[in-house]
Amino acid sequence: MLQVNGFAKINLTLDIRGTRADGYHEVAMVMQSIGLHDTIAMEQTDGDISLSIDVPGLAADESNLAIRAARLICAHCHITGGVAMRLTKRIPIAAGLAGGSADAAAVLRGMNALYALRMTDGELCTLGARLGSDVPFVLLGGTMLATGRGEVLRRLSAMPKTYVVLAKPPVSVSTPWAYRAYDAEGTDRHPDNAAIERAIEAGDRSLVASLLCNVLERVTMNEYPIVAEYKAMMQGQGALASMMSGSGPTVFGLVERAEEAKRIAAFLRCETRAAVFVTETCDPVKSGEEHLS
Ligand code: C5P
Repeated sequence: MLQVNGFAKINLTLDIRGTRADGYHEVAMVMQSIGLHDTIAMEQTDGDISLSIDVPGLAADESNLAIRAARLICAHCHITGGVAMRLTKRIPIAAGLAGGSADAAAVLRGMNALYALRMTDGELCTLGARLGSDVPFVLLGGTMLATGRGEVLRRLSAMPKTYVVLAKPPVSVSTPWAYRAYDAEGTDRHPDNAAIERAIEAGDRSLVASLLCNVLERVTMNEYPIVAEYKAMMQGQGALASMMSGSGPTVFGLVERAEEAKRIAAFLRCETRAAVFVTETCDPVKSGEEHLS
């Protein structure tokens, strides 16, 4: 039996540079892994691929990215055996935190270990990109600039360790809808990725915080004003900065000290119906937190 963790991400930036012939958008985003993670226990079987999940609200069928990842790698590597998976779900679903992609990435890494496939990170990323644009990033993790449709990655200096408060409002946002709404509305402000990259390299947390920018934020906020409310609360409570992650609706706040992060989280739990988490920026692969046993 093997246990593998799949880590969530936040976007420090998300820029859209144009539309592509394949229907996706050309993006440029600074992505950051955070400590919040799902765990998948995996066991070899004779051929069956199965999944059980410890929470309701997420289908454990062929639409689930964990199942799709297992099927894809079995087909790709001509494995006749299968896998029985038990998913402990902590990352909120449809939240802008790449929770489904994190599960897919964990399954790819887990299958690679379970069946001693010896696939390289590059091969896993190529396979992962077929499952979702965020899968290559969550496979590698840490701090990266993601371009293309999100699968072209360049590692940046590690982000100085920062506390992250997450607040997921009780609404779900469809990613395709957010991109379509952006196409209709556009933006008046784009992130300065070169500047945030320099700020990260300099280890200047406050400067990083001042450069957060997500071009999908405005369209999602217009549709779901609760996102703007949570952001104002985070800022009002003293977060260095606050922004929506991905296509939303999760709002995160960057915070310098643990006590402050706990205080802000307690405030949000009291004042809103959000699912609230306190976590930290991290580099899971480098720190060896990815494999439990
Ligand atoms: O790649 P993934 O399946 O996560 O993408 C979900 C949807 O988000 C796509 O079908 C597309 O509508 C939108 N998307 C996009 N451009 C990207 C990534 C996602 O338009 N770079």
